[in-house]
Amino acid sequence: MVTVRAPATSANLGSGFDVFGAALDRPADVVRVEKADRTTIDVTGYGSEFIPEDPADNTVGAVAEALDAPAHIRIDKGIRPSSGLGSSGASAAAAAVALNELYDRGLSRKELVPIAGKGEATVSGEVHLDNVAPALLGGFTVATGRDVTTVDADIPLVACLPEIAISTRDARDVVPAGATMEQLVYTVGRAATLTTGMCRDDPRLVGKGMHDRLVTPARADLISGYDEVREAALDAGATGVTVSGAGPGVIAACYPEDRRSIAAAMVDGFGEVGVDSRAYQTKIGRG
Ligand code: HSE
Repeated sequence: MVTVRAPATSANLGSGFDVFGAALDRPADVVRVEKADRTTIDVTGYGSEFIPEDPADNTVGAVAEALDAPAHIRIDKGIRPSSGLGSSGASAAAAAVALNELYDRGLSRKELVPIAGKGEATVSGEVHLDNVAPALLGGFTVATGRDVTTVDADIPLVACLPEIAISTRDARDVVPAGATMEQLVYTVGRAATLTTGMCRDDPRLVGKGMHDRLVTPARADLISGYDEVREAALDAGATGVTVSGAGPGVIAACYPEDRRSIAAAMVDGFGEVGVDSRAYQTKIGRG
């Protein structure tokens, strides 16, 4: 039997739609695999009632098939599905690492990225690597096509998850089809600022670089209380706030001493509109 823990991740980080990703120190999924004649899947934990156990519909089923590695797979969810915290990507990444070891396939973490990406496509309908890359490799990741680069950044974060669910497919339907030159220039500037901040472990630059005028406003409209939560987090000292992945999670960058008060402020912000939420005081972590 092989057991692997894979972290939650936050994709996009505002200005890096479908490109940027970050591994979070917590929460995480745990996947256990044992050799079997055919693949079976059991899911327990946070939100497990919403996850199909049929291998044809589950993110890890496609991973087992791609690695030709039939197994009995147990997934213990610490990351709620449809959260914007890379729930399906974490399960796919953990299964890829575990099955690679169980069957001695000898693939590197980098080589497992597109395999885990196939698993995630089962859920989101498209292959994008901005969640599975940080789940496997850790740190801050930049995924362009099949190329992934990583930075071992040390940035404190708060991720706040409201008790509402948004599917990635629905959140992708509201993404604008095009951009003006002004929006493009703004986005490139912010993305470059964020990347510089990651390379320098500078929460101020990372927070500034999270600001996005293109994709985030359309998605924020799907999240009740987003404006209240953003204001509350900024008032409590956050250096930047944006939608985490496809939402409804909201993520803030900050200095370590402000993390606790930002977490409380974000939960209060959702509370103002009658939405329950839980906040994770976290930071960029390992894959
Ligand atoms: N980049 C993707 C999106 C991540 O924002 O739709 C969600 O899985």
